[in-house]
Amino acid sequence: IKVALVTGGFTGEAEISYKSSAFVYSQLDKSKYDVYVIDITNQGWYGSLGEGEKVAVDKEDFSLHLNGEKIRFDVALIILHGTPGEDGRLQGYFDMIGLPYTSCGALTSALTMNKGYTKSILADIPEINVAKSVLLFENHRKDGVRLVEEKLALPYFVKPNAGGSSIGMTKVKESAQLQEALDKAFDAENTGQQVLVEEFVQGREFSQGIFRNAKGELIVLPATEVRTTREFFDFEAKYVPGLTEEITPADLHVEQRDRAARIIKEIYVRLDCKGMVRVDFFLESTTDKFYFIEINTIPGQTAQSFIPQQVRAYGMKEGDFYAELIAAALK
Ligand code: DAL
Ligand code: MG
Repeated sequence: IKVALVTGGFTGEAEISYKSSAFVYSQLDKSKYDVYVIDITNQGWYGSLGEGEKVAVDKEDFSLHLNGEKIRFDVALIILHGTPGEDGRLQGYFDMIGLPYTSCGALTSALTMNKGYTKSILADIPEINVAKSVLLFENHRKDGVRLVEEKLALPYFVKPNAGGSSIGMTKVKESAQLQEALDKAFDAENTGQQVLVEEFVQGREFSQGIFRNAKGELIVLPATEVRTTREFFDFEAKYVPGLTEEITPADLHVEQRDRAARIIKEIYVRLDCKGMVRVDFFLESTTDKFYFIEINTIPGQTAQSFIPQQVRAYGMKEGDFYAELIAAALK
């Protein structure tokens, strides 16, 4: 089976994509798969067999010309965070050329990349709570502070609405910090022109994966609790070892665990997800209610990332997990 392991991307998350794809590459069974690494960058698209010679991808049909041979892939394993691998662009292109892939489809990927739009759809589902928020558009730059202060109480999380890995994000504790935080989020590169401001939810933070296996069954992975020594789970807390304690499986009561699993399955189905996704949420201390933060359709796959941790805690080898995603995509 010829696998295109797709990595890179056009945002600050590209460096995470490379770490994720390197880990996935290391786990794939090379006796079963010919793994071609395809790096999609602003400068061009390049592919190689493993770490071999790099050549330009033929965008006509996503093929490679290597050693006088034309290589066409059986499946794309998309491990590219942010645009264009997580927001439906590549998915739409793969649909057009008839190449199966492991992630959610174009519509779901595009929708879920937009945190604000996703929240408005999920807010209708009983049991799912979303933090109060304001979605700001480019023309709100000047009166953003007023719009936020009219509706929300401090502290706030300010983030690019289509970003990832907390890039461009600020926790705002005082009114005086808000304008700067809005500017930073508006100016984050290649993440669109919308900014989401959310009210802080006091409680514990969790992240939990779910995937559909090759038999078509939905498998909910054990949740991870995130406890960081930093102000919030920001870029450093996510990727610098030692700054965050990550507890997998999370210490939740049976009822809370069942409730989380039910909610995550409902989200997966309602948003018409495919492959693996990961949902981030808060558990509010005072009410014991789960608050949806966001869904990640290309969740991090570095050796330390949540999904690999959860797959191990579930009792599965990472290589078998990726094989399951490939087999499901080929059905
Ligand atoms: N956006 C990062 C890669 C994650 O969700 O894990
Ligand atoms: Mg994310």
